Amino acid sequence: MFIDTHCHMEDENFNSDRAEVLERAKVAGVEAIINFGSTMESSIAICELAKNFSGIYGGIGIHPEEIDDFDKNTCAKLAELAENKKVIAIGEIGLDYHWEKDLERRQIQQKIFIEQLDLARQLKLPVCVHDRDAHGDTLKILQTEGKNLRGVLHCYSGSLEMAREVWKLGWFIGVDGPLTFKNSAKLPEIVKAAPRDKILIETDAPYLAPVPYRGKRNEPAYVVEVAKKLAEFRGETLEEVAAYTAANAKNLYAL
Ligand code: NI
Repeated sequence: MFIDTHCHMEDENFNSDRAEVLERAKVAGVEAIINFGSTMESSIAICELAKNFSGIYGGIGIHPEEIDDFDKNTCAKLAELAENKKVIAIGEIGLDYHWEKDLERRQIQQKIFIEQLDLARQLKLPVCVHDRDAHGDTLKILQTEGKNLRGVLHCYSGSLEMAREVWKLGWFIGVDGPLTFKNSAKLPEIVKAAPRDKILIETDAPYLAPVPYRGKRNEPAYVVEVAKKLAEFRGETLEEVAAYTAANAKNLYAL
């Protein structure tokens, strides 16, 4: 059985066939799916989804590209949402310097990231971090502000050196579609070096569909393609990969 540890089933791309997509995931052997919010609105939608479907869990938070959605009441509202038992994480939160070039707004991203790390610590929840082209600052913030927190750098795109620092903190890396791409850059080398107990699989659906679905709408059933590629690079069986990645997800997210 597989666990898709990061996706966005509340996304409007699934409005016409959400139940069918979730059924296909079940048939493919996906026993649990964790959806992550990026705004207050999507975080609320994720809580609703989790309530209505078994095996569906949620992470809530404000994404770095959505900082205008964050105000002085946001953390209190998120804490209230987190009273739902199926809210199991804070995320996705972090830094995105790919789309944000303005230095002042990058500093606001950092401040909001740190505030939500504090919230996760208060609520005793693990964290799902988005880091795009902000590796240095992300690692620095985790090392200085991440005390007593556990989490994952989802859709990992840093170096092997950085991954070793992440593992040293007791954190995980999450891998998804890009591992199956021809231009997967440093990822094969990183997953080969990863300790078994520090790696998670995910889809980030509806984005980043793995080969052979690249370019199409992604969905949780395709997490199996990520697992297959991981097995190939690491010289393991698909069953082994399924077993330890699911155990890791259950461990981090207390499923
Ligand atoms: Ni995502």
